[in-house]
Amino acid sequence: MGFCFGVRRAVDMVERARQTLSGPVTTLGPIIHSQQVVEHHKSIGIGLCHELAVVQEGTVVLSAHGVSPVVEQQAVTQGLHVINATCPYVAKLHKAAVQQVKLGYSIVLLGDAGHSEVKGTVGAIEHAGGMVNVLSDSDEASNLPFTKHIALLSQTTQKLSTLAQVAAALVPNCQELHVINTICHATDELQSSARIMAQQVEVAIVIGGKNSANTKRLRDICEAEGVPAYHIETSSELSPDWFYDKTRIGITAGASTPDWLIHDVTEAVQQMTGAEVACE
Ligand code: F3S
Repeated sequence: MGFCFGVRRAVDMVERARQTLSGPVTTLGPIIHSQQVVEHHKSIGIGLCHELAVVQEGTVVLSAHGVSPVVEQQAVTQGLHVINATCPYVAKLHKAAVQQVKLGYSIVLLGDAGHSEVKGTVGAIEHAGGMVNVLSDSDEASNLPFTKHIALLSQTTQKLSTLAQVAAALVPNCQELHVINTICHATDELQSSARIMAQQVEVAIVIGGKNSANTKRLRDICEAEGVPAYHIETSSELSPDWFYDKTRIGITAGASTPDWLIHDVTEAVQQMTGAEVACE
C-alpha cells in the first residue's frame, strides 16, 4: 500500500529541485493527489499554482498525472525551467494513444473525464490530431455510434474487469478494435491486495486523498467484498463506532498516500481498539 513508483519518483523530483535549484520552484497543480503532501511541500518552500500564466520565473514541475504537450510547450515559451515529473506509465499511455491516432484509429479512453491524467491524455491525442471519446463504463460504450477503427485505451488506475467489459461492448460498434491495456501494474497489485485484505477483515480503512481516483477505487473494491469500508485522509476522521464488535480490521492506502500518514492512522486505530498490528 501507499506510494507507487510514479508517485515516489515525482515527489523525489520536486523535493530534489527545491534542494538543488535557486529561485522559485512551483508545481502546476498538486504534484500528487495528497493534500498532506501539498501542505508539507508548502512548508519547505515549494509553491503551487493552477494556471501556468501566473508563474513569472524559476522552475515549474509538471505533476505525476501528466499534462497536454501544449501545456509543456507553453511553459517553455514563458521562459520557465521545466521539470516533467509525469509517471513513465502515464507517458507510455500518451505514446500508445498517439501511435493509434497515427494509424488512423479513433480513440476511446476509459477513465474519469474530470481527472488530470485523462485531461492530459486527451490533450496529447488532440495535439496529434486525433478524435477521442472518454467514457466510464460499458453502457456508454454501447451507445457510441458505429466507427470503423477504434483503439481502446485506459486511464492507468482503472479496473481490468471494466476495461474488458468496455471492449466487449465496443465490438458490435466497429469493424476493427485495438485494445491496449494501459492499466498500471502497481494499480493492479494494489487493488488485488486490497481485495484479498477485505476478504479477511470485518471493516476496512482506506487512506488517501478525497480526490484520489485510485483511493476511491480501493474503497469500492473493499466494499464489493461485503465489508464496511471507510475512505479517510487523516486519523482525525476515524470513529470508534466503526470498530465496535470487530476483531479484524484492515488498513490499506492509495498510491498517493505517504508512509508517515499510514503509520499515523495505524497508531490511532491501535490506540482506539487495542489491536495488535500485523503488516503484510
Ligand atoms: Fe504511475 Fe502507476 Fe503510480 S501509473 S503514478 S506507477 S499508479
